[in-house]
Amino acid sequence: MANSTARYRVTIFSVIFIFVLGFFMYLSPSRKTLSHAAESQTVTAQPKPRKPNGVIFMLISPSRITQATMALLNVEDRFNRRLKYPYVLFSPSGEADVITEELRAKVRWITEGRATFAIIPKEMWDVPEFLDKSRIDQSLRKIGFTLGFFWRHPALARYDWLWRLDTDIEFHCDVPYDPIEKLVENNALYGFVQISPDGTWVQPTLASNVSRFIADNERLVPADANLGFSWKGAAGIEKARSGIATSDDWTLMCMYNNFEISHRSVWESETYTKFFEYLDKEGGLYYERWGDAPIHSYGLALSLRKNQVYKLPNLGYQHQKWPYECPELDRCACVKEDVSRDFNDHKDSWFNPEA
Ligand SMILES: *[C@@H]1O[C@H](CO)[C@@H](O)[C@H](O)[C@H]1NC(C)=O
Repeated sequence: MANSTARYRVTIFSVIFIFVLGFFMYLSPSRKTLSHAAESQTVTAQPKPRKPNGVIFMLISPSRITQATMALLNVEDRFNRRLKYPYVLFSPSGEADVITEELRAKVRWITEGRATFAIIPKEMWDVPEFLDKSRIDQSLRKIGFTLGFFWRHPALARYDWLWRLDTDIEFHCDVPYDPIEKLVENNALYGFVQISPDGTWVQPTLASNVSRFIADNERLVPADANLGFSWKGAAGIEKARSGIATSDDWTLMCMYNNFEISHRSVWESETYTKFFEYLDKEGGLYYERWGDAPIHSYGLALSLRKNQVYKLPNLGYQHQKWPYECPELDRCACVKEDVSRDFNDHKDSWFNPEA
């Protein structure tokens, strides 16, 4: 009896002791460290990795406001009400008055408050000062932002994955997966949906400039870069590396960048940075009409390996009223006549073989 009472006392004391000790530890400054340790343990214990740190961004111009709200509604309906990525909606300085209170309210409702508006400063948007203005068509092209600046904009600074969408788009499939997660799972850094040939007439000296860059910057072009995407076969690649390739050696292939998911490291790389600076100085963006899709495609082909770029499947994505891929799936609803086609152009040089 006495024995068990003693044991009882010991138990009571232990419980009180542990409780008091726990209380002091709770108050002590090391508490943060403890709870942090606990937190990181929980994270490792979870089977599912944290959601990628991504954002969807769009450029909205005054004439495209209605279109932009329709696109947002479509994107929310098809996947983002589930995925809940935030949005950044850009307008160039000088056009910011399009962001009326009415628009804000509509966008807030559609996106459940996940959208913010941002202004593109003049220096990220306009023709650079150092170019010869007399050689530039006065219907100024504002292309610098999507080519050389978007990832540096403060509104996107805290995101790793940058998902560009245009306003004149439609997803014809319900999308049950997370496209950014898909890239993470596949160790890819860039995701696209369509590849098509571009024209040379608007950019007659682009190919030769890219070739010149490759030859002058051998050190920056990885040995296993996917040059075969841009250049015709081994002979084309050889010419590109020697700095003598022209439009005739170019496959013309472009990943449409009206839909583009990229990891910021792609653009921040020394290779792409130097590449953009080189082309920007040459001025063909403005003297001719070099496009941002071909330049991104060239830049990706010369800085990434084939398996770092991924074709996102089964989205039923359509830009403007142009042809698009319509998968044979219950979750897709498309008009097949005229518009449906595949985008298997130049398939052998596509980045991921699975697509
Ligand atoms: C590069 O582009 C500029 C502008 O179009 C052009 O003047 C120049 O000749 C091109 N350079 C090469 C090597 O093609």
